[in-house]
Amino acid sequence: MLIAVPREKGEGERRVALIPETVARFVKAGNSVLVEAGAGAAAGFPDEEYTKRGAEIAENPSEVWSRADVLLKVNPPTAEEAGFLKEGAALIAFLWPHLNKEILEILAKRDVLSFAMDKIPRITRAQTMDALSSMSSLAGYKAAVVAADRLSKQFPMMMTAAGTIAPAKVFVLGAGVAGLQAIATAHRLGAHVEAYDIRPAVKEQVESLGAKFVVLELETEEAEDKGGYAKAQDEAFYEKQRQMMLHHVAAADAVITTALVPGRKAPILVTEEMVKGMRAGSVVVDLAAEQGGNCELTEPGKEVVKHNVLIVGMVNVPSSLAYNASQMYSRNIAAFLNHLLADGKIDVNREDEITKATLVTAEGRILQE
Ligand code: NAI
Repeated sequence: MLIAVPREKGEGERRVALIPETVARFVKAGNSVLVEAGAGAAAGFPDEEYTKRGAEIAENPSEVWSRADVLLKVNPPTAEEAGFLKEGAALIAFLWPHLNKEILEILAKRDVLSFAMDKIPRITRAQTMDALSSMSSLAGYKAAVVAADRLSKQFPMMMTAAGTIAPAKVFVLGAGVAGLQAIATAHRLGAHVEAYDIRPAVKEQVESLGAKFVVLELETEEAEDKGGYAKAQDEAFYEKQRQMMLHHVAAADAVITTALVPGRKAPILVTEEMVKGMRAGSVVVDLAAEQGGNCELTEPGKEVVKHNVLIVGMVNVPSSLAYNASQMYSRNIAAFLNHLLADGKIDVNREDEITKATLVTAEGRILQE
């Protein structure tokens, strides 16, 4: 089987789907691995590392696509790239099926077996394949580091000859995978951390990381779906939530927002009025920027100052930690590919929960959008 790894062409994308360490494992198992020249360079994995581990380097990008039996990628392919895949080849990547119907149509037409890494179910058996969690962990860490860097206050308490400096106050909104990592990082840096999530079930996790869980008198019993994700609420709920969070936001030096609802625009939790209530020099780091942002004033991909508060609209954060992001993604995608293999070939077992959830195109059809 020939496993191919192209260079990611998206703007600002530095990750690579497979790192040399993982290449070695596939080669050892009897596969060939073809890597596009420079594919890992931006993540800190030069071509020589790949050749040392048994990969072949291809100078021509279309060769990587056309020779692949299985193509491993981070982001969805472009229409042109998808068109190079040979019939019957397999593709594994973050495909975001609901956003990429046109690409799926091309893949289906070419009879490509495609699997979406973003559809790996959140079940114990699939934890080693859970790339969304890997990327969210890195993003949460980075958000806290960026908040610490941009704030004109230090995070830890400091006792000096010039007196005692109080620790910075950090308020984390949304305590999922990214939020918990942001909490842990801000706490390690010495900040006083408060956190809130619509799912009361995370209270213990927040407290175990040394943060205070903010309890709002809101009806949240129905806040969680079967998969552990937050359910969408109506505008009246969000309005009530904003009112109740007002003084927590105003008291914070840094607000880190990570609140998402699957398949929807991110809820607005920090309004312009709330930003106005923050002290000058405070920071809002919005990890939900790509989904529209949790802060009303967020501009995705930009850092803007509004009402003397810096608002950081972070996008593709994992790419800024490309080495570790590629390392983790590579292990996740390899675990997933190994899950699909039987006797060295991809065996589509539609009865299997993980395979069924991730399979997006097969037998010339789009199976999910
Ligand atoms: P996510 O990225 O979709 O959302 C982030 C957080 O925002 C969630 O905790 C959500 O409850 C929160 N949120 C949404 N609306 C909010 C609002 N209005 N106010 C405050 N917070 C709000 O979620 P993520 O981080 O991907 O994980 C969600 C769940 O999945 C968690 O329970 C996590 O433990 C679980 N999970 C389970 C895994 C497994 O069993 N293998 C692996 C990874 C996650």
